[in-house]
Amino acid sequence: MKVFLGLVIFVVCACSGNKGIRQADLIKNKKKSEYTALGSQYMISTQGAATTQAAKFVFERGGNIFDAAVAASFAISVERPHSTGLGGGGFMVIHNAKTGINEAYDFREMAPKAAHSKMYLDKEGKQVTERSLTGGLASGVPGLVAGVLEVHNKYGKLDLKTVMKPAIELAEKGMVIYPALERAMTAKAEKLCRFEASKKIFLDDGCKPKTAGDILYQKDLAETLKLIAHKKRAGFYEGPVAKMIAASQKKHGGLITTRDMRNYLVKKRPVVEGTYKGYKIVSMPPPSSGGTHVIQILNILEGYDLKSLGAQSAEAVHLTSSAMQIAFADRAEYMGDSDFANVPVETLVSKKYAAQMRERISLDKALSSKDFPVPFKELAKESDHTTHFTIMDGKGNVVSSTQTINGWFGSSVVAAGTGVVMNNEMDDFASHIGGVNLFGAIGGKNNLVEPRKRPLSSMSPSIVFNKEGVPVLALGTPSGTRILTCVMQTILNVLEHEMPLWEAVAATRYHHQWSPEEIRIGPPFFSTEVEEKLKSMGHKINHKSLGCSIQAIQRQSDGSILGVSDPRGEGMSYGI
Ligand code: DON
Repeated sequence: MKVFLGLVIFVVCACSGNKGIRQADLIKNKKKSEYTALGSQYMISTQGAATTQAAKFVFERGGNIFDAAVAASFAISVERPHSTGLGGGGFMVIHNAKTGINEAYDFREMAPKAAHSKMYLDKEGKQVTERSLTGGLASGVPGLVAGVLEVHNKYGKLDLKTVMKPAIELAEKGMVIYPALERAMTAKAEKLCRFEASKKIFLDDGCKPKTAGDILYQKDLAETLKLIAHKKRAGFYEGPVAKMIAASQKKHGGLITTRDMRNYLVKKRPVVEGTYKGYKIVSMPPPSSGGTHVIQILNILEGYDLKSLGAQSAEAVHLTSSAMQIAFADRAEYMGDSDFANVPVETLVSKKYAAQMRERISLDKALSSKDFPVPFKELAKESDHTTHFTIMDGKGNVVSSTQTINGWFGSSVVAAGTGVVMNNEMDDFASHIGGVNLFGAIGGKNNLVEPRKRPLSSMSPSIVFNKEGVPVLALGTPSGTRILTCVMQTILNVLEHEMPLWEAVAATRYHHQWSPEEIRIGPPFFSTEVEEKLKSMGHKINHKSLGCSIQAIQRQSDGSILGVSDPRGEGMSYGI
């Protein structure tokens, strides 16, 4: 581990929040062997030990990587009910070694048919933030079940009942509540308490959050999972589960009907592609902004010799932050669901556009938000969660998938009788032009609510190929708008700065999203000198964890496969 990891922790911890101190300690104290694994036949990196075990269970029964991905999707839905679940959606980027084809599965939530562009505004046209965050109206039509079943149907080898067994058992027999889940329950207790079915599962008497060490049973969820294992898509999108979701929506002011459920559509999309110094980057296209901006930022940075500036020198951080700033201004202006709006992805990922953008960046002076055309507004309060897993096998197949219900416990509504926590993904739409979401991301015209449209995302499941076309790195992370900058930095740390993967993941990360006009720096932080230099260039600094939890896998030059689960979180890598 390089010196900067250890040295700077003491200096900066004093000025950072609890989460920063906890994470800095985790990075310092976790042994490398606790968050890395080495194998050659397969490697699984997920955000939960039970989820990694579920994927392992499937491999051990002769399942392939796609069975393992489906098992992991259902298991993580149980293990991280505050982050993701059957009531949410996500994206999966796949490399099929046999055909050489890369595919992007889009199972993002869709706005219900009755949704419209003014649904989150009051009579005076002002944004009513709470409406897209809590309660029935916050939810889009869930896509996760349809998406993973489509992958299983196309590529799976084992029967669905075997693949879903670990998830069903985890929900039925219960699991020990871990500290991060306790924190989420505590943070959301007041909201969960408002909804009978949510309260029953996640809170104790008097609406007290359950505590770490208690057992969490999700019996209704186990029944829903069994129905899916038995009836496949119809077990969720038709029959009793769909009816109970529609009934819960009606009761809590939502718009999703049984017809919306039945009409949910998975989209298989061409991946977005780019290159960085000869490596090919493959990632998620719209309705995610993630892949496009990961590539756009890397394109801008390709024109500099960052390596000689030093991985986390003030100069390199300044240039990288400036490229992030430009990407986020473009995100606000152009990004949305490309089925509904004209999104100029080709231009945004072109080298020519990157060269033009580079001209706007000075080597020693921060860009001002005034240098950009889109006006920026007040920021929303944020909270987080989502989840990512990556799996790679010895044959060269890769699955990288980010899945979410958006904020902690999504809309806070469990559809009574189903155990399903409904998402609050509708908050990722722009409530009006210039409206901000939970993550302070500004939305434009292309991201206004429309019936059956998908809200703009930042999720960036990505795969990197070497010059011979071999997938050498696959990764992703949760954490709202920070997803794309955390993924981009990890790629940059590996390709440009040639850091070993565990160091690339553990290193200090930073984030600039154009608005607010600041560099957000997470644990283990930079040295005082680097920060002073950044300030002298005109940057404002905010010490705050980025919330990312990178799950990454690297194929090494000797053919072995290395898994790394971010030391900041409770993930686990396992492989043989
Ligand atoms: O799709 C998105 O970009 C967000 N809904 C993801 C939310 C998220 O990552 C929350 N985080 N930790």
